[in-house]
Amino acid sequence: MPTWIKEQPLLAELKKRFRCDWLGYHGINHWSRVQKNGLILAGKEGARKDIVTLFSLFHDSAREDEGYDTGHGIRALPLMDELRGVLFDIDEEGYAEVREAIAGHSEGRCSHPGIHVKVCWDADRLDLYRVGEEPQPRYLCTRSARRQAIIHEAVKRSETTFDFEFPDFRVGGPFSRISAYIRSRLS
Ligand SMILES: [Fe+2]
Ligand SMILES: [Fe+2]
Repeated sequence: MPTWIKEQPLLAELKKRFRCDWLGYHGINHWSRVQKNGLILAGKEGARKDIVTLFSLFHDSAREDEGYDTGHGIRALPLMDELRGVLFDIDEEGYAEVREAIAGHSEGRCSHPGIHVKVCWDADRLDLYRVGEEPQPRYLCTRSARRQAIIHEAVKRSETTFDFEFPDFRVGGPFSRISAYIRSRLS
């Protein structure tokens, strides 16, 4: 079963449920940059782009404040379960990876045997400059993310606004982008 995401309805639903500032440090602009970081790293590390995309969309979706907010990753899991099969779907193996990445993403760990999980965590950490902190190689899990050029690009990207890319997750499928009209409705 190829992964599918009803991108605009999903983002609209996440916006409705989101309890922090939608355009703030942990809102849609951050999610989009996490996806971009993740797609780049996935290409270099051989990780799945659908996993990093779903991670980017959900990992901070259940935050209740802009601080450390312990447990916000685990809190997102029931929301994902609820929307799976309705606004997105992914095979069982991929879903288990997304859940694992989201549940553990805020604990500062790097030790994990799975490349998908490590790429997701790095994608998030590479967007740290939005709060003025340069990503430190020692806190990044993959060799690709530790490269100075990748960190430099992520720092430059950290002030950009959202621009999700939704690949057709079948191999070789085309990319679709969110249109200007949808962007205006989601901002
Ligand atoms: Fe988070
Ligand atoms: Fe995040």
